[in-house]
Amino acid sequence: MSDTKSNAMWGGRFAAGPDAIMEAINASISFDQRLAQQDIDGSRAHAAMLAQQGILSSKDAETIREGLLTVLSEIETGKFAFSAALEDIHMNVEARLKEIIGEPAGRLHTGRSRNDQVATDFKLWVRDQFDAAEQGLEALIRALLAQAEAGADWVMPGFTHLQTAQPVTWGHHMMAYVEMFARDLSRVRDARARMNECPLGAAALAGTSFPIDREATASALGFDRPAANSLDAVSDRDFALEFLSTASICAMHLSRMAEELVIWSSAQFRFVALSDRFSTGSSIMPQKKNPDAAELIRAKIGRIVGANVALLTVMKGLPLAYSKDMQEDKEQVFDAADTLMLALAAMTGMVGDMTANRDSLEAAAASGFSTATDLADWLVRELNLPFRDAHHVTGTLVAMAEAQGCDLPDLSLADMQSVHGGITEAVFDVLGVHNSVASRTSYGGTAPVQVRAQIARWKESLG
Ligand code: ARG
Repeated sequence: MSDTKSNAMWGGRFAAGPDAIMEAINASISFDQRLAQQDIDGSRAHAAMLAQQGILSSKDAETIREGLLTVLSEIETGKFAFSAALEDIHMNVEARLKEIIGEPAGRLHTGRSRNDQVATDFKLWVRDQFDAAEQGLEALIRALLAQAEAGADWVMPGFTHLQTAQPVTWGHHMMAYVEMFARDLSRVRDARARMNECPLGAAALAGTSFPIDREATASALGFDRPAANSLDAVSDRDFALEFLSTASICAMHLSRMAEELVIWSSAQFRFVALSDRFSTGSSIMPQKKNPDAAELIRAKIGRIVGANVALLTVMKGLPLAYSKDMQEDKEQVFDAADTLMLALAAMTGMVGDMTANRDSLEAAAASGFSTATDLADWLVRELNLPFRDAHHVTGTLVAMAEAQGCDLPDLSLADMQSVHGGITEAVFDVLGVHNSVASRTSYGGTAPVQVRAQIARWKESLG
């Protein structure tokens, strides 16, 4: 303590302060200052518990509580001078507390360590991100439901291999994304419930000999219970990894949808028009309206998956319990969380604003022999052909239409009968795209009646 150069928090056995490069590699304050609120919440809960347990006088606890509030307001108003010499948010807050309240500040760290402190702070922060992701996903799902509802029976081409496959409904396509983002939502809720155990009181790694009440701090901080093993509590980062893996899957869904919007908004497709609010222009080509937001959402997954891989790699092979390696958890998660929230918000805005071009969708739905399967199914149903034979007859008719430069419904009955004598006028009913989609009433199918049932189900479950 007498050596002014050594660290005031842990420098008792040190004769000299750290090298500048040591400080540069060691300090986390430049980024972990984002945990200020959580750090102060954790300290307040800890101090209150220490007083309740008679480990700290109520007078000291009250002085600490007020001092911490002053520190928080200094941080919130930008008056706080963060110091790299004090390494991290925990020691920055405690050192400032000492300047404000003096001796009682030194009693706050009784029965805890920075190891359980940082695990607690970070968990509180990540928990907020799960909540933000839940809100972001709900908003996106609502925007998709509105699109699905508006065009539940609009027809469009359904693709496999990005080749025209069978007609589907716009509502059905939108609802496919609802299913994806609803799974993300369920992963978010699931992981949030699992991570809600409090590390505080695990102390450095072994627990403490002070008669602390871990239930009290856990409940004061909104946790369901204290984490049950102190070694695990200080060295677990599964909650961050689950956030990142959940975010990665969600980002993959966002990226797929973004890719479709990029394709659909092109002049060649014209399936959707993105609003001006979510498009950009070109500085050289005056006609351009670019889907930059969609392209960026398509790309953002790189950072999120990168963070997931980075943290898995940091954690791999770490012996129990805490190691400083784990300080590398924060920047990855901070960036991934910021990225995910922005991407969700941008996609929600784009989906909410975009206009589906019903006529282009319908024209495209009818092209590319999209009802060939309906024709084959008709041959099976009405003429009792084995499906493989029906497939062959239909293929011959497709080739005929292609040679004539027309679509299947444009072939004459005589043409059809030249391939199979049993075909009647009634076949033309199934060649229309509206009849095609309306016929696919199997559960989960593209028929508007099914799509509307799914929309109702999701609206009900979202509340
Ligand atoms: N800044 C550190 C981190 O983020 C806090 C914990 C430090 N603990 C320690 N024993 N040095 O991991």
